[in-house]
Amino acid sequence: MVIRPARPGDAQAIAGIYAWHVANGTATFDTIAPDAAEWAAKIADFAARGFPFLVAARGGEVAAYAYAARFRDRAAYAHTCEDSIYVAHDARGRGIGAALLPALIAAARASGFCQMIAVIGGGEPASVALHAKCGFVHTGRMRHVGRKFGTLLDTVYMQCDLTGEGWGDE
Ligand SMILES: CC(C)(COP(=O)(O)OP(=O)(O)OC[C@H]1O[C@@H](n2cnc3c(N)ncnc32)[C@H](O)[C@@H]1OP(=O)(O)O)[C@@H](O)C(=O)NCCC(=O)NCCS
Repeated sequence: MVIRPARPGDAQAIAGIYAWHVANGTATFDTIAPDAAEWAAKIADFAARGFPFLVAARGGEVAAYAYAARFRDRAAYAHTCEDSIYVAHDARGRGIGAALLPALIAAARASGFCQMIAVIGGGEPASVALHAKCGFVHTGRMRHVGRKFGTLLDTVYMQCDLTGEGWGDE
């Protein structure tokens, strides 16, 4: 498996991966999936802003993607990013996320981010476990803020200190 920066030509594969999770999962609160053109624009925008956007590919086929962008637009949040990671539904549970998320963390650190936030829809257990495995700690839970497939959903917040210096409160 190769982990590399996303290219505009990956947009179709990324659109397909995300569309499955939009239609079938609660990790994302999107209910309409962006098309390939929107993903191509996002990849170009991230490259222009210097935000990391990575794919994991096997045999030339994109099996997963992950990116990190500003957590909030307000200026004081500039050093804080939010991650997003999606593995193709039929490639989950094979170690791809465990390889891709550390690569994203390293790329985000290299981009100058100091804190990374995971906003985990539905408190998706696999995502919570993956983030914990990669050094994130639980920082909050908002209850019943989403509704999908007729079910009220929580959002779990986790955070990773990218500086290696800790928060000075432990
Ligand atoms: C969450 C996700 C990114 C994990 O990637 P993955 O490639 O499936 O995970 P891996 O095989 O690398 O497993 C890494 C760790 O995740 C956890 N994990 C994976 N699948 C799990 C499952 N079904 N239930 C509980 N924990 C699970 C385990 O801790 C595992 O580590 P271990 O093998 O040492 O126990 C992937 O399953 C996915 O895309 N899920 C749907 C979308 C999503 O939740 N995205 C995150 C949005 S914030």
